[in-house]
Amino acid sequence: MIPLLRHGKPDGQPRRLTLEILRHNPADPASVPHLQAYEIEEAEGMTLFIALNEIRAQQDPSLMFDFVCRAGICGSCAMLVNGRPGLACRTLTRDLGERITLAPLPVFELIGDLSVNTGKWMRGTSERLQTWIHNDTETDLDAFETRMEPATAEAIYELDRCIECGCCIAGCGTVQMRERFVGAVGLNKIARFRLDPRDTRSDEDFYELIGDDDGVFGCMSLVGCHDVCPKQLPLQTQIAFLRRKMALQGMR
Ligand code: SF4
Ligand code: F3S
Ligand code: FES
Repeated sequence: MIPLLRHGKPDGQPRRLTLEILRHNPADPASVPHLQAYEIEEAEGMTLFIALNEIRAQQDPSLMFDFVCRAGICGSCAMLVNGRPGLACRTLTRDLGERITLAPLPVFELIGDLSVNTGKWMRGTSERLQTWIHNDTETDLDAFETRMEPATAEAIYELDRCIECGCCIAGCGTVQMRERFVGAVGLNKIARFRLDPRDTRSDEDFYELIGDDDGVFGCMSLVGCHDVCPKQLPLQTQIAFLRRKMALQGMR
């Protein structure tokens, strides 16, 4: 009879995982950034979300990290997993080795340990880029009810799948050099509103927002954003398309 395998080693024994977590509490003047190791036993279907919760519940209630939906929808659990940005709730430990390093996303304000304030960054960028529908007939609600071609609606929906997790920002070298670079998430939003027939802004208006080195011309096509986006958004294509459009606009 073939024995039932628990997830883990070929002999059916569960693996012992070591999670090395970058700890730091910026609110505590005595806190010094350091790696802290925790050991846990791997369970079937374990995600990093489950592992972190187990550590916090059983070993260290002071560990800080963020989760809301646990389903890859809210974007709050993004962190560096072995140096690569990803969603902890969608990362299975079985896809990783026995030693796992976790660190907070860079660029964003650190709240503590693995928790960062992506909301502040996203809100600031959205305000700068005015990521809402601008319509000259704003008071006429009928303008928002006009029929939209299904293909257009689908294309908008595709870009609207962004969950503002911040992985594309953490995975972009340009952001490290240009503090105000809007990144793939910002450019994706402009691409989305440019597509929307209810938005009456012209390419000239969009050029005002992203036609510089903090916008689409700052992107060096490093495509880290495209590689790490957990929603597999077509960032590379969108940015290239936007760059061509804005370059044409700049020549006018
Ligand atoms: Fe996250 Fe992708 Fe949106 Fe960037 S574009 S914030 S990686 S979902
Ligand atoms: Fe950065 Fe993506 Fe451009 S990684 S440089 S925004 S292609
Ligand atoms: Fe919401 Fe991970 S907890 S995306």
